[in-house]
Amino acid sequence: MARSALLHTMVEAARKAGRSLNRDFGEVQNLQVSLKGPGDFVSQADHKAEQILFTELSRARPGYGFLMEERGEIVGDDDQHRWIVDPLDGTTNFLHGLPVFAISIALERQGQIVAAVVYNPAMDELYTAERGGGAFFNDRRIRVAARKTMAEAVIGTGIPHLGRKRHGHYLVELRNVMGEAIGIRRLGCAALDLSWVAAGRMDGFWEEPLSPWDVAAGILLVREAGGYVSDKNGGQTMFESGSIVAGNEHIHQALMKQLTKPLPEAR
Ligand code: IPD
Ligand code: CA
Ligand code: CA
Ligand code: CA
Repeated sequence: MARSALLHTMVEAARKAGRSLNRDFGEVQNLQVSLKGPGDFVSQADHKAEQILFTELSRARPGYGFLMEERGEIVGDDDQHRWIVDPLDGTTNFLHGLPVFAISIALERQGQIVAAVVYNPAMDELYTAERGGGAFFNDRRIRVAARKTMAEAVIGTGIPHLGRKRHGHYLVELRNVMGEAIGIRRLGCAALDLSWVAAGRMDGFWEEPLSPWDVAAGILLVREAGGYVSDKNGGQTMFESGSIVAGNEHIHQALMKQLTKPLPEAR
């Protein structure tokens, strides 16, 4: 598969940051780690990878803006383009030696996501997409799974690290989905959750709350793989509300139905 110059740039940046993450993953016990908020760790590895991505992407496309997890918003001279970057999605997994983490890079043009790269350097698994050009896993075209019913579906989710009240709400959702799906998975890396839906490894995914850098690349990957993405009410407020639901058209609909349903009566 011949990659566009844009995707080539993004993949090279991701691979370079990936080499840095793999080096740090090999000696994770020596990394400086701090806590940004409840359950939200950041390490030297996150910062180093982010610096590499910032340097490489700014060099390739001077003037584009950035939205990065650790540095936040960087306004560029070019107000039409913005990189949305998570330098290490799955920091908790990374710090526990679990090889389920990824670099996520999306390019937004006039508010629309037009290119996406998600790269898991520990497994050397690369997911790429360009708007209108399909989605790929290690250069092989991918499609969302074809399963039509929740009774056949494996569904990914994320368990929010929030207060009890909010968890109560999540537990209702979880219970409703558990009642229908064949199995639930919690990877701990939203960018890979969405990539795995795009690749048909999981049939659907939902989580709330997530940030734009967790989902921007994954949204394009799922769509370019023929899938559907929305917030849990079917709207397109994923960046603003932090709610996301993904799957093929059947599972996406079935998941939304479960997520908006009240808790069934205890039997
Ligand atoms: C986290 C991961 C995790 C999700 C969290 C995110 P981080 O990102 O995507 O799967 O459940 O909500 O914050 O902090 O490891 O980049
Ligand atoms: Ca984080
Ligand atoms: Ca993240
Ligand atoms: Ca992160």
